[in-house]
Amino acid sequence: MVALKDFKNDQEVAEHMKQTGRKYVIFEGSVYDVTDYIGVHPGGTDKIEPYVGKSIDEPFDEAEHSRSARNLFRDLDKVGIIYGNDAGIVDNAKISSNPNIKGLDGTILESKIKLDYSKGLFWQLLTLEGLNWDDYIQFINEPKHLVNPVREIRLFDNPILEYGVCTPWYYIPIAYLPPIIYCYYLGA
Ligand code: HEM
Repeated sequence: MVALKDFKNDQEVAEHMKQTGRKYVIFEGSVYDVTDYIGVHPGGTDKIEPYVGKSIDEPFDEAEHSRSARNLFRDLDKVGIIYGNDAGIVDNAKISSNPNIKGLDGTILESKIKLDYSKGLFWQLLTLEGLNWDDYIQFINEPKHLVNPVREIRLFDNPILEYGVCTPWYYIPIAYLPPIIYCYYLGA
């Protein structure tokens, strides 16, 4: 998975577009590569072009796109996330700490546990007052990839600890198979 870039504002998005020669739009706090999509947009190729490098939140809503149009963002390449709000694109602090804002397919996270999704979740959860089992189960069953802006959820703020969380699947057989085979051999 390619690491998402943190953009402070739309100027930084424009600079990155110059470097890569690609076309991006900003949608609900995330930056998407629309270079290949512009030409196949059902609403017309001229519609997205004026918003390249800018937020399409308003025009997208005004065109009353369907739910499946929203879902299309999952297939677009997500380049990064806007972390700053100085360009007035999106009040990121407000959005990332407000899980009630609709996710990409319109999903609202309804769990009573409200965390700040721009920060590590582990300590927030651990230090949460009045946490009970039912709320916790509801919380862990919610689709966190639909948090708005859709972002990489992290467990720890510390990058070293966080690195330990992201285990590729093949580490599991590499770590577990040799001791299992050895124990089997000893017991045989
Ligand atoms: C990457 C961003 C965009 C995606 C993925 C997208 C996707 C789509 C899709 C799938 C449709 C077909 C109808 C539907 O399912 O709602 C559509 C129609 C449309 N889009 Fe977009 N759109 C994007 C950006 C925009 C923007 C920025 C505008 C306006 C400035 C716009 C204006 C329209 C219009 C006017 C239609 C209606 C066409 C018709 O009904 O004849 N779209 N779009």
